[in-house]
Amino acid sequence: MPKVFVTRRIPEVGPQKLRRQSGWEVAQWDRDEVIPRDTLLQSVRGCDAILSLLTERIDAELLEAAGPQLQVVANLAVGFDNFVVPEMSRRGVIGTNTPDVLTDTTADLAFALMMATARMLPQAQKYVLDGKWTTWEPLGFLGQDIHHATLGLIGLGRIGAAVARRGAGFDMKVIYYDAYRRQDLEQQFGYQYRDSLETVLGEADFVSLHTPLTDETRHLMNAQRLAMMKPTAILINTSRGPVVDPQALYQALKAGTIWAAGLDVTEPEPLPVGDPLLTLHNCLVVPHIASASVNTRNAMSELAADNIINVLSGRAPKTPVNREVVEQKGLR
Ligand code: GLV
Repeated sequence: MPKVFVTRRIPEVGPQKLRRQSGWEVAQWDRDEVIPRDTLLQSVRGCDAILSLLTERIDAELLEAAGPQLQVVANLAVGFDNFVVPEMSRRGVIGTNTPDVLTDTTADLAFALMMATARMLPQAQKYVLDGKWTTWEPLGFLGQDIHHATLGLIGLGRIGAAVARRGAGFDMKVIYYDAYRRQDLEQQFGYQYRDSLETVLGEADFVSLHTPLTDETRHLMNAQRLAMMKPTAILINTSRGPVVDPQALYQALKAGTIWAAGLDVTEPEPLPVGDPLLTLHNCLVVPHIASASVNTRNAMSELAADNIINVLSGRAPKTPVNREVVEQKGLR
């Protein structure tokens, strides 16, 4: 009888679908907190499938603890830097993620961070709550324009392209750098390719990061690159925290060599109270909520469950990250 372990309390639609599979045994860490590693290692023992979060590292130790019958680990996230993919593939374990269903919701949040930082919304709300609003102020809360500004995208994949569409709606000039050039989008929408990251940094009023976390992108935004941004420019990160060097970002924001930052992701995560970035008026931090809408989180939960159901029923998962293992197993 197939055994599945779900590593957190998540929208019910996915776990419910798993429990409806006749004869399946579905266990869950039914709490709103990260499962302790040793509990996780014990809980996955003998499982055929794991529905994991980005807080669980799927490495040799965990795969060993689960045992040889493990067939699939379904991440409730599009990013899968918590997977040690070569180790999974070597053992014939399929990994899956949740792309597409969260693209627009994540792009909405990136745009919300742009607007909130450019127009100083958190500071303005605090001002009202502190009882400081006494008159209309000609010099109060002077922000940066979003309309007609230049939006620089680092990565024009699914989410980057969705942010670009939003930018076009605000009459922004959209420029991008990506190792994979999208001439189709350039022709269709007039986005402009730049042949280096550095060129984008020098030109953009808003720099929005849409790259996965890899060895190459770790601390991509370091002191040297932050120094290439305009003093009026704003950095938005909805990708992964370690793509930005947090110390370098602190220095740049503190010295005013860039204007503001809006971060959905940080390094470390969660960012502890008292972290230097949280002492800055021009740094807006939200707790990794880019995909957090009711509909999207339901869709992610269902997609992760569908991926497990497919694999354990002998079919190809909808969204594998190591397609070669799916092919090796002959799943369709
Ligand atoms: C969240 O960060 C995700 O990768 O979906």
